[in-house]
Amino acid sequence: MADSRKINLYLRPDSKSSQLYSRATKVEPGGNSRQTVYNPPYPCYAKSGYGCRVADEDGQERIDFVNNLTSLIVGHAHPKVVEAVIAQVQKGSAFSWPTESEIRLSEILTDRVESVERVRFTNSGTEAVMNAVKASRAFTGRPKIAKFEGCYHGAYEYVEVSLDPTPEQGGDPRAPKPVSYTRGASPGVLQDVVVLPFNDLEACEAILKKEKGTVAAVIVDPMPNRAGLIPANPMFLPGLREITRRYDMLLIADEVITFRLGYRGTQSVFGFRADLTTFGKVIGGGYPVGAIGGSAEVMSVFDPTGGKPKLPHAGTFNANPVTMVAGAATLELMTPQEYAYLDELGQAARSKLSALFERTGFEAQVSGWGSLFRIIMSRRKLADYRSSLVSAEAKAAGQELFLGLMARGVAITSTLFGSMSTPMTMDEINTLVDAVEDTIGEMKRRRNCLF
Ligand SMILES: Cc1ncc(COP(=O)(O)O)c(C=O)c1O
Repeated sequence: MADSRKINLYLRPDSKSSQLYSRATKVEPGGNSRQTVYNPPYPCYAKSGYGCRVADEDGQERIDFVNNLTSLIVGHAHPKVVEAVIAQVQKGSAFSWPTESEIRLSEILTDRVESVERVRFTNSGTEAVMNAVKASRAFTGRPKIAKFEGCYHGAYEYVEVSLDPTPEQGGDPRAPKPVSYTRGASPGVLQDVVVLPFNDLEACEAILKKEKGTVAAVIVDPMPNRAGLIPANPMFLPGLREITRRYDMLLIADEVITFRLGYRGTQSVFGFRADLTTFGKVIGGGYPVGAIGGSAEVMSVFDPTGGKPKLPHAGTFNANPVTMVAGAATLELMTPQEYAYLDELGQAARSKLSALFERTGFEAQVSGWGSLFRIIMSRRKLADYRSSLVSAEAKAAGQELFLGLMARGVAITSTLFGSMSTPMTMDEINTLVDAVEDTIGEMKRRRNCLF
């Protein structure tokens, strides 16, 4: 690789990104409107994207493994999606009447996911989760929910509990304490959230047994990214389903990310059926979206036909036709063959990176499954959130790796998380692996062979 490519133009003091960031700090707190895109000293500003490539404001192009945090499964500006959006925008972008487009997208979701008989749309995954939680409360008449330690389900206070506790704050790993994520949260929030350890069915049962009659629902992500992108053990989700039935609690599957893993999401793969499922990201084809799906019985809490429903749910842009047509166009492109193709790319990325770390002795491993991968800067055996935590030194090395990849034309998140899109080929996977090898070689030279 030519040396001239091994720099990030956006980090030059006179770069367009630097100038934009300085402007942004005058009008947005910390120049930021979305925590996840901030990276010190400042983020790289995007100018355009096409297929699996994204160009920044300084004209540097990179392969985009971020895909707007996994949401762009057919890449940027796919001609079929663009065509559907333009056709809709020319007819109007939002109405105070429903449109046929929301029925179409609901039909796709109900056809694909067995447990989903009815659907409601929102504008984000956060809102979908919030409404699924509220639906479980409205259905059962109970306030409490249970969630897994270290797992992200959006920016709703109840599901943010124990998002990033230290092991000291969380206490007993098999009976974790609820820990507030945001300052000033109501103590009531902590009282109403039960925290569970992922992949430990026995411990979950012991905790949930004591909560019979108090917990409305357990929310679970089948492969939680923030908790290390570790898939659930084969019997974990069917087991959790059984336990929640035994103790009369609803089960919410948060498939905001994992719906990209297969034509029917992950419930048919793991062999369980949730009462409620939350969707987001890919189902909007690149436009803001969220959805709650579930059995007709549980979803009836939203039904306004007999007077005020148990759970009234409104939203000015819910089911807006631009998102609906973009989502339908995207999911129609995503045939079972396309998912198999993405799996192949994902599998190649994970095995080639793992082999590279093995061969070079670099202190890292790769987690994930299907079209998702994450580099974890440790060799510790992964099972849950706590086992995915790394030292401050390893985090700093991860940041170097992220910047090194960006300098070599490869964009993954600063947490070293990446996803595949259908415009990618094995060439892009090889470029990713070469860029990692080149970067860790440089890190090694700089550190005088510490690893
Ligand atoms: C599992 C999961 N649930 C919910 C959300 C929230 O979705 P949104 O960012 O659209 O609000 C996310 C976002 O990354 C997520 O990963």
